[in-house]
Amino acid sequence: MDRRCIVICDSGVGGLRLLKRLERAFPREDFIYYADYKNLPYGEKTCEELVSIVQGVYDNLVKFSPKLVVFACNTASTVALQKIKAYNSPVMGVYPTLGKGNGLLLCTKGTANSDYVKNLTRGKTVEVKALSGLAEEIENSIILGSEINLERYFKGEKSDYDFISLGCTHYPFITENLKKFFPSAKFFSGEDLLFEKIVFFITTFDTDQKRGKICFLGERKKELKKAYKNLKLL
Ligand code: DGL
Repeated sequence: MDRRCIVICDSGVGGLRLLKRLERAFPREDFIYYADYKNLPYGEKTCEELVSIVQGVYDNLVKFSPKLVVFACNTASTVALQKIKAYNSPVMGVYPTLGKGNGLLLCTKGTANSDYVKNLTRGKTVEVKALSGLAEEIENSIILGSEINLERYFKGEKSDYDFISLGCTHYPFITENLKKFFPSAKFFSGEDLLFEKIVFFITTFDTDQKRGKICFLGERKKELKKAYKNLKLL
């Protein structure tokens, strides 16, 4: 088995769901989780700022000699990941996916303005809605227990979409609340595809019997650990 760890990062709690799925599937792997609170929210940064932030995060995280660095963040992935210099350790990101029919892609401002999303949605029956502030509200509700007021984002919004694409890794935390605004829609997120890619990556290595460790880096370690412990996946 390749004992090097896997690093997962986001601007906040966005990668915790992925971490939970991976820990369940691969209990013998070691993980480092990094939440870049200094730069939250990524979604409001310019492309240049984000490339420099993502490069800095990558450069710091490769010091742990990981076998893989995962940006569990649609904004970092769609805006910056192609532009950073990745060396030593491979990198993976998460990207919005679309369903069939009329859809609505919910994402940060940065993701909405990215070339990736422009190419993805060109000629498709999908509307793109940038939700400035929602990722931070979700962050605060998970970490500090504050309330989220979704009315201010979705009041008067058309509700009869065939699918809703969750193009920010913070949004799956509130899927049940979002379903109230879009009762007939199927919900998608790019997290499933990223999970499958990582599974494929890990299973190319042998495994042994040792149980792996999870280490949280940076600010709010205690709060993140607690949020992770309480996190229930459906
Ligand atoms: N979770 C991040 C994403 O998937 C964004 C949150 C932020 O704006 O920092 O885009």
